[in-house]
Amino acid sequence: MTARLTARDITLRYGDRVVSTRLGLDVPDRAFTAVVGPNACGKSTLLRAFVRLLRPAEGRVELDGREVAGYPHKALARELGFLPQDPLAPEDIRVRQLVGRGRFPHQSLVAAWSPRDEEAVTSAMASAGVADLADRLVHELSGGQRQRVWMAMVLAQQTPYLLLDEPTSFLDITHQYQLLALLTRLRDEGRTVIAVLHDINQACRFADHLVAMKDGRVVAEGVPADVVDAGLIKDVFDLPSVIVPDPVTGTPMVVPTLQGA
Ligand SMILES: Nc1ncnc2c1ncn2[C@@H]1O[C@H](COP(=O)(O)OP(=O)(O)OP(=O)(O)O)[C@@H](O)[C@H]1O
Ligand SMILES: [Mg+2]
Repeated sequence: MTARLTARDITLRYGDRVVSTRLGLDVPDRAFTAVVGPNACGKSTLLRAFVRLLRPAEGRVELDGREVAGYPHKALARELGFLPQDPLAPEDIRVRQLVGRGRFPHQSLVAAWSPRDEEAVTSAMASAGVADLADRLVHELSGGQRQRVWMAMVLAQQTPYLLLDEPTSFLDITHQYQLLALLTRLRDEGRTVIAVLHDINQACRFADHLVAMKDGRVVAEGVPADVVDAGLIKDVFDLPSVIVPDPVTGTPMVVPTLQGA
């Protein structure tokens, strides 16, 4: 496994609240990594550190051996595309305009909007299934539509890395699978995907590499079939379960044994 993006012994905190202490993680190149773990265990915080929105109190995040903190803003944005868990759109912006903002790292003062930018926006909207929404106001969309628009914005950025914080949380089941299939296609084309997912069965089906977190620590990582068993699910989520093979893919499928009275 090669990794250009790595966290080396990072300590992450908000003021006095320490989330992670000396966490290390190599993000495998050209692979789909899924990060799973209970609420508040530090998944979003970790992604925010990778994209430099949060500076580690100790340790460093490196891209190609160079600390991300040292990259010029646009240069880093040409490498790392980030979908936050809870993005906020400016008032009165239309879909095409918002998606167009993904092009900012490719623009300079002298060369403004180009046909290449136009083509990137059109293709990103098609991939995310929002082409028919292009002229709508973002704040008038449904939650799932809006989430796909944000995804289109990240795609328009055309970065080798896609860091996605719960990209499927508002999507109906069909759109969830379509998005996950899109991410595997992008992986096949050579992109590196790291996504926080709450659906462990989807993570097992689509991810090459699974990272399970608890209390700010990585408690297990590897190929889903190698790391997911009932013991891990009990340990990480405090949930009793049986693990069966996914009838479609054979990957681990977690079936909770918790039932109503
Ligand atoms: N801006 C902030 N200021 C202070 N504390 C924060 C901030 N953001 C997150 N935290 C705290 O850091 C811890 C980790 O939060 P984080 O958002 O990384 O969790 P998460 O694993 O992404 O959870 P979820 O599944 O609910 O999204 C939590 O205890 C949270 O309350
Ligand atoms: Mg989160």
